[in-house]
Amino acid sequence: MDRLEFLKRLGVLTVGASFIGVDVEAATAEAAADDAVAAKDVEKLDFPIKPLETDVDKPVTVVIIGAGNRGRTYAKYAERFPDALRVVGCADLNPARREAMRKKFDIPSENCFSHFNEVFAREKMADAVIISTPDNLHFEPCMKALAAGYDVMLEKPVAPTEKECKQILAQAHKYNRIVGVCHVLRYAPYFIALKQVVDSGVIGDLVSIQHMEPIQYAHMAHSYVRGNWHSSKETSPIILAKSCHDLDIIRWIVGKPCETIAAEGSLHLFKRENMPAGAPERCTDGCPHEATCPYSAIDIYERKKRHTYVFDLPRKDPALIHEKLKTTDYGRCVFRCDNDQCDHYVATMRFQGGITASFTMDAFTPWGGRRTRIMGTRGFIEGDMKKFVVTDFRTGKQSVWDKKVSEIPEYKDAGHGGGDLGVVRDFVSAVAHKDESLLSSSIDVSIESHVMGFKAEKSRLSNKKVAVK
Ligand SMILES: NC(=O)c1ccc[n+]([C@@H]2O[C@H](COP(=O)([O-])OP(=O)(O)OC[C@H]3O[C@@H](n4cnc5c(N)ncnc54)[C@H](O)[C@@H]3O)[C@@H](O)[C@H]2O)c1
Repeated sequence: MDRLEFLKRLGVLTVGASFIGVDVEAATAEAAADDAVAAKDVEKLDFPIKPLETDVDKPVTVVIIGAGNRGRTYAKYAERFPDALRVVGCADLNPARREAMRKKFDIPSENCFSHFNEVFAREKMADAVIISTPDNLHFEPCMKALAAGYDVMLEKPVAPTEKECKQILAQAHKYNRIVGVCHVLRYAPYFIALKQVVDSGVIGDLVSIQHMEPIQYAHMAHSYVRGNWHSSKETSPIILAKSCHDLDIIRWIVGKPCETIAAEGSLHLFKRENMPAGAPERCTDGCPHEATCPYSAIDIYERKKRHTYVFDLPRKDPALIHEKLKTTDYGRCVFRCDNDQCDHYVATMRFQGGITASFTMDAFTPWGGRRTRIMGTRGFIEGDMKKFVVTDFRTGKQSVWDKKVSEIPEYKDAGHGGGDLGVVRDFVSAVAHKDESLLSSSIDVSIESHVMGFKAEKSRLSNKKVAVK
């Protein structure tokens, strides 16, 4: 397929000409002229990026339950677009976080709560709730919120067990409410463009996907060894806690149900038997390996200033950070934590129609993000979450998508490639228009990809390929 045909096919498969962000006729004429140019020429894929602003008659009102890292992230949407979203209440056990939210949105004191139960002891006070509490505290507030008539924006993983996930699904149907799951990658312009290219048929029929989630060594140590998700039993197995996004993206791109999954993985490094001789309880206790250990808390937090938001400090002052390392889990030796999450994990999947996918999650990388290769009968796509390149087998021509989303002012600081605010925009639209189909990650499709995660874990633990149903 030449470039002209490629552009035409993209145009046909979308809502009018706006899909490729240019007048299709002009673009195809231009493409026809350019097709005479050498086969090496790289076409820029100019998909329009959906604005973050959304058109609603009046602001959707929300109560934020869990005003930590994620609650604050989603609240940014209300700061930027107060005509679309208004925070009218919040609940958090941590008084400083609660107070910060109260001040930022001028929330009446009587609408600020400690425990989420207090929210549901009151009359319904908003259109929706955003649930961004820890993994093991999604189920209870979500079930209560639905019964009380709230629509819900729910952090992933939906719940730590398959049974609870399905109960939430049933509750959403019973009360006919919207539950939008924060599968933020689906709302990132990069993945939206990737999916559109696959759906256009430009690489022929989809045959297989190779997808990698590089966690990054310091992020692994921070979240899954020392931090909140160190225990698979207290939260959820890492294939859900971290990688439910990835299984969801794979399922979304394939567009067909997963039939079987097989997984392997283990905790390779972060355990006592690998502790270097003489390592004390904390990196701050004069560890003889501090100068060379890549996982030194002093190096990660104090020197490199990574992940310091967890300390709720007024400023990134090394002395203040050092004090936190002496008293919190974030200062503990990575070989002495009570962690059990896998630090490497692979899963293979077969989808309807024989499409296959392989997924790799790995702690031991210098970078995070995602790396994806998509194989079709006529072409190939390779991407790294910043750009992707489409190669046509017959002509050898390449097309590239490489939009700098973070440089678009309204997307500034929107994590997950812009998906963190994109998900709020679509949730606000869905609630305002009472139309769940405006959400890419409705509860039904999210449960399906969560089930893939539960079955992967079952396969890893049982050493058997598992049917997904
Ligand atoms: N969508 C994503 O990409 C993404 C990324 C990171 C984390 N998460 C998920 O988001 C959720 C929150 O993660 P986080 O990093 O914001 O954690 P966090 O610890 O920063 O915030 C959670 C907040 O919940 C509060 N809380 C705990 N129990 C409560 C209760 N009973 N009532 C009210 N508040 C309570 C805590 O005090 C804390 O402030 C987790 O489920 C996590 O897995 C999702």
